[in-house]
Amino acid sequence: MKLNFLYSNIQADVAAIEEELRLAVKSEQAPLVEEAALQLLNAGGKRIRPIFVCLTARLGNFQWNQVEQAAVAVELIHMASIVHDDVVDDADVRRGLPTIKSKWGNHVAMYTGDFLFAKSLEYMTKISNLEAHQVLSKVTVELAVGEIEQLRAKYDFEQNVRTYLRRIKRKTALLIAASCELGGIVAQLDPKLHRKLFLFGYYVGMSFQITDDVLDFTGSEKTLGKPAGEDLRQGNVTLPVFFAMEDKAFRAKLRQISETTTKEDMAPFIEAIKASGAIAKSEAIAETYLQKAIGILDEFPPSKELKPLKQIVQFLDKRKY
Ligand code: IPE
Ligand code: IPE
Ligand code: MG
Ligand code: MG
Repeated sequence: MKLNFLYSNIQADVAAIEEELRLAVKSEQAPLVEEAALQLLNAGGKRIRPIFVCLTARLGNFQWNQVEQAAVAVELIHMASIVHDDVVDDADVRRGLPTIKSKWGNHVAMYTGDFLFAKSLEYMTKISNLEAHQVLSKVTVELAVGEIEQLRAKYDFEQNVRTYLRRIKRKTALLIAASCELGGIVAQLDPKLHRKLFLFGYYVGMSFQITDDVLDFTGSEKTLGKPAGEDLRQGNVTLPVFFAMEDKAFRAKLRQISETTTKEDMAPFIEAIKASGAIAKSEAIAETYLQKAIGILDEFPPSKELKPLKQIVQFLDKRKY
């Protein structure tokens, strides 16, 4: 199932956001940063966060000008975070192309990420609502903390699953939660519903990252736009690994994995994880989160605008990339 089929009703919105993102990364003073950011934009991406802003805003008083600023701001934050994430994860490929870090080096990646964050601030200030500013600034701090936590927890095979859940909440779920809440805020929805939208996005985001972590084991470079099987080699302990580590002997073996481990060395570990039932268990948790997300939507007053949100959740349930 393709995502654009789902959001046919907001295709024009997405196209306009696309256009604005291109303007946002323009920089006469820093042409290299512009080139790097443009490559990332042109390489694709699902634009799931701006889509959530647009769809949730349709539940209220939809004002395009405010919606657009919010949607562009969240995508810029996301872009900044993945540029920095690829430095932290030492990743070479993103969206099917060399990462900024691998093509231009860590310095350019750092500046590009910072530039994108700063640009997002510019868009945020065009939103005339204090609550929106608070939501976005808070999530940006949490995102940074999430990445630091991920760095600190690398190759730690003694950590518990709660650490993982807290980490993915910060690095992924909260930005999706904020995107959903922002739509409601800029559309002046009843404040009681802001919290519900946040919770909806949080559940979607938790599921989204767990699926990303599962796909890292089950996907292919072709579908993912990045090599599969890299998380564990880079020491990132994700949900399937936690399930597989319930086998103590396997947990002990994992300690052999370090920065010097090669892709070839990883094959038996990946096979063992797949054979352990850990993938199905992780998928079940991702599914549980999605069901919770749907449950939240059911608490909203009936509206035809809820339908595309439900469809997106169904798409995410089946996604392969
Ligand atoms: C990738 O996010 C990072 C995660 C939070 C898993 P997306 O899967 O939304 O990446 P793009 O924007 O579609 O490339
Ligand atoms: C998500 O983590 C990254 C951010 C939210 C910044 P991952 O490290 O799993 O993302 P990918 O797999 O590189 O896209
Ligand atoms: Mg990464
Ligand atoms: Mg990943």
